[in-house]
Amino acid sequence: MLVIKDLSCSVKDSDYSILDHFSLTINDGEIHVIMGPNGVGKSTLSKVIMGHYQYEIHSGDILLDKESILNLDVDERSRKGLFLCMQDPTVIDGVSNSEFLRTAKNSITSKKVNLYTFIKELEDGMKDLSLDENMIHRSLNKGFSGGEKKKNEILQMKILKPKMIILDELDSGLDVDSLKIVCDNINSYLKENRTASLLIITHYPRILEYIKPNFVHILKDGKIVKTGDYQLALEIEKNGYHGINDISGDDVSE
Ligand SMILES: Nc1ncnc2c1ncn2[C@@H]1O[C@H](COP(=O)(O)OP(=O)(O)O)[C@@H](O)[C@H]1O
Ligand SMILES: [Mg+2]
Repeated sequence: MLVIKDLSCSVKDSDYSILDHFSLTINDGEIHVIMGPNGVGKSTLSKVIMGHYQYEIHSGDILLDKESILNLDVDERSRKGLFLCMQDPTVIDGVSNSEFLRTAKNSITSKKVNLYTFIKELEDGMKDLSLDENMIHRSLNKGFSGGEKKKNEILQMKILKPKMIILDELDSGLDVDSLKIVCDNINSYLKENRTASLLIITHYPRILEYIKPNFVHILKDGKIVKTGDYQLALEIEKNGYHGINDISGDDVSE
């Protein structure tokens, strides 16, 4: 599915290096987790995978289904099935949520989606996520609470049907009940789309109680320094990241 090889990047027009020979392989249907201290480059990784213009790639490659996507624009990557649930979703005043979703859906399927089918899918999705139906007519993310923004990102996932999903701190802003609802939706999506893969960026093991990962990786100094399973997330919760550098670990997922 997704192969990141030896990727180094910095913030554009600066020599501030963030990822340093970063490698990760995510196979079809796998769930991977990236954990790491604040400011280590987790969100940067997710944005670089999506093709954010603010970062410059110095070396390495990103392959989706064996094809390099480095030269593709964000919309082209999205059409190929990549999806990012952003840590801090963007507000677009004047563009209604439904308008945005319908335009995105039409663009991804490259044909006009039947309006009746679209509305039905939207209504079902909002119900599944316990989202107030008025939210669909409001400007995208404008005045949405932290939790509503995150639920709305998952509504986008349900509508756009991506195959490689990246969740950047989905759990921040969600209360306990909402986190469960959102995770239930993600689990049903994965059940219906068995080859879809997930990359979860998180600080806390709580989300992993609902979505069981295959691998947990620790990101430090621009690369993965240790790989384990759910137990590793629990260890981090208990002991923090101290001493992680002393433990050498290979990326067992490769
Ligand atoms: N566009 C940018 N301009 C300047 N600094 C940036 C930019 N993007 C990221 N950084 C810096 O890179 C580091 C990694 O950021 P980020 O990927 O957001 O970390 P996190 O692991 O907390 O998600 C931080 O020190 C951040 O300030
Ligand atoms: Mg972040």
